[in-house]
Amino acid sequence: MRPKISIIGAGHVGAEAALGLVTKDVGDIVLVDIKEGMPQGKALDMYEAMPLLGSSVSVQGTNTYDEIEGSDVVVITAGLPRKPGMTREDLLKTNFEIVKGVCEEVKKRAPNAVVIIVTNPLDAMVYTAYKVLGFERTRVMGMAGALDSTRFRAFLAMELGVSPADVTAMVLGTHGDLMVPLPRYASVAGIPITELLPEEKIQAIVDRTRTAGTEIVKLLKTGSAYYAPGLATAAMVESIVRDLNRVVPASVHLEGEYGIQDVFVGVPVVLGHGGVKRILELPLKEDELAKLRTSADHVKKLQEQVDALLG
Ligand code: APR
Repeated sequence: MRPKISIIGAGHVGAEAALGLVTKDVGDIVLVDIKEGMPQGKALDMYEAMPLLGSSVSVQGTNTYDEIEGSDVVVITAGLPRKPGMTREDLLKTNFEIVKGVCEEVKKRAPNAVVIIVTNPLDAMVYTAYKVLGFERTRVMGMAGALDSTRFRAFLAMELGVSPADVTAMVLGTHGDLMVPLPRYASVAGIPITELLPEEKIQAIVDRTRTAGTEIVKLLKTGSAYYAPGLATAAMVESIVRDLNRVVPASVHLEGEYGIQDVFVGVPVVLGHGGVKRILELPLKEDELAKLRTSADHVKKLQEQVDALLG
């Protein structure tokens, strides 16, 4: 049987994630959205592209949750995106209600699924999902580091005039201005970027990475980014479903790792069957660790807001 992947929220990010998965024949897709006809239309449109893609999975659109039963992976992108002038945190209350409602359905219908949250403010929404679902921490994670890292890699490739595929880099921490790009661990085909770029250039790229989402929001004016977010999500799903053991930063519940307790924050993990197989604890320098902890403190405050909303 092919793996089953349900995507709740068939908007920009959800549809792009679905297309990424269909393109690579990763599994059967169920697109769920509250907008009548929209997920059905997108699913049909995608199915009509399958002869061109050479794919053979099924793609189904629906406005109810019956079809998500038995899902191996559930991706949640349901919720509002940012508009210009908004921070991700401005979305907290509205998206809390949406994510909570979606998770209640997921808990009932797909109790064995691995769940990936994409809705912002990311880390607070993963915490919401974790609380509502009651699943073990290996099966609840947030997609943010995968996106922030691909952005960091893209900007480095742009600056160095090399293929983005040859740049590896990681961004840890929260999905926001307090994220923690790690230049010390970034390289081009194994060459540390600290050997290739002066300090000021690296700093400028780090700063651009931190505000990359806002840069897109300002340009689009009507919503936030979706190509890179959708494909970063698809890559995580693929690693889980195909047991690839890809190393990706993801927002997971830390229970003492990096000296952080009971906070969802982005750290490198190994993704395979069952979700998070391992959390990697990188050796960090004092200042890098301090930034990660500042990031975690910020999320902790948002988690307190979620606790208050949960009552
Ligand atoms: N159940 C299912 N779908 C829902 C629900 C719900 N309760 N509430 C909203 N949706 C759907 C909307 O109908 C919409 O189609 O979620 C979809 C969100 O899609 P977009 O508005 O296109 O937003 P998108 O750009 O995809 O971003 C989604 O991901 O990156 C984050 O910040 C972003 O929080 C935002 C989320």
